[in-house]
Amino acid sequence: MNKIIIHGGFPLEGIINIDGSKNSVVALIPASILSKSVVRIYNYPKISDVGVLIDILKELNVNTKINETYLEIDSTNINNTPLITAKMGSLRASYYFMGALLGLFKEAVLRLPGGCYLGPRPIDLHLQGFAGLDCRYEIDDELIHLQAEKLIGREIHFPFPSVGATINTMLAAVLAEGKTIIYNAAKEPEIVDVANFLNQMGATIKGAGTSTIEIIGVKMLHGTEYQVIPDRIEAGTYLILGAMLGNPLEINKVNPHHLKALLSTLTNCGVRYDINDDKIIVHKTDKLLPTNIITQVYPGFPTDLQQIITTLLTQCNGVSTITETIYSDRFQNCHELIKMGANIEIDNKQAIIKGKTHLKGTEVVAKDLRGGASLVLAGLIAEGTTIIDEPQHILRGYSNIMKKLQKVKANIHMST
Ligand code: EPU
Repeated sequence: MNKIIIHGGFPLEGIINIDGSKNSVVALIPASILSKSVVRIYNYPKISDVGVLIDILKELNVNTKINETYLEIDSTNINNTPLITAKMGSLRASYYFMGALLGLFKEAVLRLPGGCYLGPRPIDLHLQGFAGLDCRYEIDDELIHLQAEKLIGREIHFPFPSVGATINTMLAAVLAEGKTIIYNAAKEPEIVDVANFLNQMGATIKGAGTSTIEIIGVKMLHGTEYQVIPDRIEAGTYLILGAMLGNPLEINKVNPHHLKALLSTLTNCGVRYDINDDKIIVHKTDKLLPTNIITQVYPGFPTDLQQIITTLLTQCNGVSTITETIYSDRFQNCHELIKMGANIEIDNKQAIIKGKTHLKGTEVVAKDLRGGASLVLAGLIAEGTTIIDEPQHILRGYSNIMKKLQKVKANIHMST
């Protein structure tokens, strides 16, 4: 198995271009089948999750064409094949085939999703959304069976604004009969992106980005060409890196509006950055200040950046805390950071980080995607050599990470 090898402690300088959003594109790919036509997705990230979703499309007899610039998906001859292979369980986003296949065929059989272990990740709210549209479901073993005579638009009240359940309900509702209203919908930029994509294919969705989304069912959708929004978590990851090592780093092709919670946290830590349209230039900050972070749904501080900013907090002078409110077990990376010399205590939902600590390179394990990214950052600031095992988790969500870091003079490579 390959490992990432990093020789750390050197300043980084240059431009990092941000690719399209992982959590958006992993929904757009399944959503594209609702068109039963040809869809082109531009600015897609070069990540392994995209490769897995393309393989799943092949099982449905959907043709794809991929090049540097776009991903083309032709679902004209789609079959409703049961999706039961292990690939379905290798990522979270395979659950978007539930909503898309249900919307298109009114029935589907699928293997349950997998993804990073961050504590239990039930799909009860997705099922609540489907049931709200008159779909019946049964789960036996690892398979879910979804079936509806016809899908009927209704009012759905979510007890929690789940990203996945909101998107899945939209996917199932766009071809339903009548009006669906989702109350307490998630408001993340990826929800807006998926709604814009579906609307461009002929759907009628209003209110995405607010807590009430209204969908009026249409008879059919059509093909389109679409540009994915920038990945705010990838951008945030490199901004945090720039705050520790930027000489300076320019993070390019970002949407700063999607990064407000992170930017205000960086300001609290004393980080200097300049925003210029879709670029943010960030400088290494010598005296980083401690801060307290609580993860929240958008527009709050994103849980997906929590593990990554932990690395920065090890470099702040004083005691910082992170309170994780979205997932019950998202501190696994802290044990690896401790091996590198970090001073972190975990107390139930809170991590208490005492800094500043001098990190030293050692062998660590990427147990999940964002935790793995936090270790890459730690390796880049640490003295000596860091070896990261199980880098496949990182490659699931960071487009061309090795090349992008090498381009800004990081001493990082993949062992063969
Ligand atoms: N939840 C339930 N029941 C459900 C759905 C969610 O209890 O039916 C709980 C989850 O267990 C979790 C919380 O609600 O504790 C939030 O889950 P949500 O549904 O909002 O998240 P998700 O759809 O599973 C997406 C991203 C995650 C990101 C979250 C929150 C994708 C493929 N994944 O997950 O991304 O953390 O939204 O923003 O879009 C990542 O990129 O590293 C990642 C984990």
